[in-house]
Amino acid sequence: MPHMAVRGLLALLFILLAAGAEAFRICAFNAQRLTLAKVATEQVMDTLVQILARCDIMVLQEVVDSSQKTVSLLLRELKRFDSSNYYSSLNSSLLGRNTYKEKYVYIYRSDKTQVLNSYQYDDTDDLFAREPFVAQFTLPSKILPSVVLVPLHTTPKDVEKELNALYDVFLDVSQRWQNENVILLGDFNADCASLTKKRLNSLLLRIKPGFHWVIPDGEDTTVRISTNCTYDRIVVHGQGCQSLLQAAATFNFPRNFQLTEEEALSISDHYPVEVELSQAAHCIQLFSLTAQLLLSLLLSQLD
Ligand SMILES: *[C@@H]1O[C@H](CO)[C@@H](O)[C@H](O)[C@H]1NC(C)=O
Ligand SMILES: *[C@@H]1O[C@H](CO)[C@@H](O)[C@H](O)[C@H]1NC(C)=O
Repeated sequence: MPHMAVRGLLALLFILLAAGAEAFRICAFNAQRLTLAKVATEQVMDTLVQILARCDIMVLQEVVDSSQKTVSLLLRELKRFDSSNYYSSLNSSLLGRNTYKEKYVYIYRSDKTQVLNSYQYDDTDDLFAREPFVAQFTLPSKILPSVVLVPLHTTPKDVEKELNALYDVFLDVSQRWQNENVILLGDFNADCASLTKKRLNSLLLRIKPGFHWVIPDGEDTTVRISTNCTYDRIVVHGQGCQSLLQAAATFNFPRNFQLTEEEALSISDHYPVEVELSQAAHCIQLFSLTAQLLLSLLLSQLD
């Protein structure tokens, strides 16, 4: 076989493998009292922007922003960093039972995903301190054209009650939009002093079938060296979602950006948590099959 043809096959192989590896990343981050003054600090902004740029959709919690200035500033710096203009945001109103209020903010790449619809969960019995602001996004996947995100930042003294009420939010949204592919995510405070192992394991979202807690118990999602708690979680539901699931992890930003504990704590006392969805489960199989075929072809030529 001519040399050129082998080179061509190799190139094709790499393209196929690269295409198969491209994933869609969904993240959640408790950015700890994210105010305008905080993002205006250069070092905080620099790190935040790098954390945000990793994600196709980021769900920020604890955004303390009565104007829209904090998010506008973040978006401006993000677009500058990424030299693309493909970032948009969607925010809830300020939520909370007393004078302290915060909002949920989605920041997403509008060239890869769009908001189909969103609503504030109607919390008639006041079960949540910050009721989920639910949104449905498109995905660049033929297998799973859309996914529903349900964010929650629990209040530490009501973790069990709120996490059980989260099951009702799941029922509400999956019926409303006829979509079982739901990702529940955020700072659930689901560990340490806020929730014992026994109570964790008796939650509806643990007992009912079909819910996959992809950030495992024992994973440290806290920045402080002296703490080790799995507060931040991602729970995946639905066949489509499951079949595309590629990876789930915390993002240890202090280690990645070589920050001291103190520097990291100026950004947040939490790590972001992330899931990666592949574009198409079937395609991955097709890719690896094609790759194997090409490889054996190549090897037979080398004999
Ligand atoms: C987003 O925040 C702005 C400013 O606080 C507010 O006016 C707007 O109503 C919020 N969006 C939603 C959907 O609540
Ligand atoms: C946190 O605790 C778990 C056990 O619950 C352990 O496996 C893990 O290594 C600890 N992580 C850190 C960073 O200390």
